[in-house]
Amino acid sequence: MSLPSSYFTLPARMKAPERAFPYLSRVGRGRKIFSILLFFQSLIVITGGIVRITGSGLGCPTWPECAEDSLTPSPEQLEDPLHIWIEFGNRLLTFVLALAAIVALGYAIRLIPNTRIRVLALLQFLGIIAQAILGGITVLTGLHPATVAAHFLLSILLISGALSLRQRVYGAAPAELLVSPLTRILSKALLLVGFTLIFLGTLVTGSGPHAGDLSSPRFSFDIRLISWLHADLLILFLGILFATIISIRLGELAPTRIRLQRLILILLLTSLAQGLIGYIQYFTGVPEILVIFHLLGAILVWLNLWNFYIAGNLSPVNP
Ligand code: HEM
Repeated sequence: MSLPSSYFTLPARMKAPERAFPYLSRVGRGRKIFSILLFFQSLIVITGGIVRITGSGLGCPTWPECAEDSLTPSPEQLEDPLHIWIEFGNRLLTFVLALAAIVALGYAIRLIPNTRIRVLALLQFLGIIAQAILGGITVLTGLHPATVAAHFLLSILLISGALSLRQRVYGAAPAELLVSPLTRILSKALLLVGFTLIFLGTLVTGSGPHAGDLSSPRFSFDIRLISWLHADLLILFLGILFATIISIRLGELAPTRIRLQRLILILLLTSLAQGLIGYIQYFTGVPEILVIFHLLGAILVWLNLWNFYIAGNLSPVNP
């Protein structure tokens, strides 16, 4: 059967994973490090959220030291010990994350002769350094909401990179995937609106009650207005998501349909659950526990969105 000329081949060279990605035969069990890296990139967002909702953001009031002339908490510190250890624990997690990135980079350099994978691994390491510096700026600006938001959004980008890296190393790229132009356009729109939804979420947080410290500045947005804008974007997101589902069901050939349908359904379910948590937390005065669940939901939505998006876009790169 000849394919409609309007179809894109993604990309034409794509064959079975091992043929398309010759390096796959060389990656062994050690590739788990890339899953571990992804896990820690996600976990640090949650622990950052715990710092914020417990009001521990200035538990270590300076940076890079925790207290004056001390890299670790000092007995002379006046801050609440619980806040100190929550903030310091989060700082320590950065080192664990950096270690995972270094091991992943070393593994890629030694065993995976693929430039794109090595570049992605290097970007993970550089991104973590950038995050450490941005974290420092956040502390030194007294937890300004703009730097808190930037800190979160950079994590979102790092999570995308870590997921791309992991999927490449695991050969989770499609074998022969043909995607219609309509589904491609809708996936791009979904990604754009999804990112904007998350961006608006950070503005809601920056205008809301959980600043990370009682003395921290806040955005001057009307909390009701910005929350509703954020929620309205979810409606738009769901609209595009349903359009994408229809496009996949009616416009794609079987292999593409089966693969993308499964991924987009998981995305739909996580988005609906996340929306529900969002509304409940809004109407119940943003209780701390729901803020953490909403953060977790935001990460899951983004992971599923990015996974769906790259499913048809991972190109084989020969060494
Ligand atoms: C798929 C849907 C949604 C996603 C991906 C999402 C994502 C986010 C993100 C990333 C944040 C910022 C978290 C942070 O900076 O720590 C946030 C905050 C917030 N979102 Fe959503 N959200 C969604 C739906 C909703 C809905 C429907 C509502 C209902 C009004 C809502 C209400 C809120 C509120 C009140 C905050 C501020 C929480 C705080 O003070 O920490 N969200 N959201």
